[in-house]
Amino acid sequence: MSKMPESTASEKLVIGNWKMHGSLRSNEVLLRALANGMKAVPPRLKIGVCVPFPYLAQAQALLAGSAIEWGVQDLSSHDEGAYTGEVSAAMVADFGARYAIVGHSERREYHREGAILVAEKAERALEAGLTPIVCVGETAEEREFAFTERVLAAQLSAVLDRLSIEQAASVVLAYEPVWAIGSGSSASVEDVRHVHAFLRGQLLAKGAAVGRIPVLYGGSVKPDNAAALFAVPNVDGGLIGGASLAADQFLPICEACTETPV
Ligand code: PGA
Repeated sequence: MSKMPESTASEKLVIGNWKMHGSLRSNEVLLRALANGMKAVPPRLKIGVCVPFPYLAQAQALLAGSAIEWGVQDLSSHDEGAYTGEVSAAMVADFGARYAIVGHSERREYHREGAILVAEKAERALEAGLTPIVCVGETAEEREFAFTERVLAAQLSAVLDRLSIEQAASVVLAYEPVWAIGSGSSASVEDVRHVHAFLRGQLLAKGAAVGRIPVLYGGSVKPDNAAALFAVPNVDGGLIGGASLAADQFLPICEACTETPV
């Protein structure tokens, strides 16, 4: 077997993806518990929560000055103008947000977002000073037909080809196998090892700076499997859905990431 590329990531991240969950009341409890439970984050580890748009101001109010950053789960591919219902990257940045998830499989599937649109959103995020968390992942069917690498390469290159090297070096990538999301069981350590090595190779092909961007794993990360997943070479943290909605699950996952060196 050829030697697999090893992680040289510049930082690690644990990011919560709340999806369409929450209320002013329940968020307040959760955000306070997170801010209190995570007093300090080691250098080169970032913790963040990506909340629904209406709760951005609340996240800013309750997390400003804490060790936890905040962001959103999508944004418009347009700058500004007559785009009813859209939210621009600049608006998001106005609320002190740091992250914008783009290309999540639920957006690709339920909103028919294609590779080019995802790339445009990543570009808008970067222009506004946000860090795009670009999600890639194969469906169960694509996996069954051994198309995983082909699908991931296409999703990734659509984004990288649109960005300058400097922009691409500021992206965070998240591998989220669609079949593992919300399923209760993550991809196996072996699968994750293989796919992340493949993704690292694709990134390194764009040069050393792009080769160093963090690559997160997402899909049923829980407190009891986080340490094993974060210890896999080329895994630089996680994108956490269901388990980010409860402080007693999200905080141990963050802890697990502090224990694996960058
Ligand atoms: P999950 O979701 O942790 O609930 O599987 C992850 C995601 O969709 O980002």
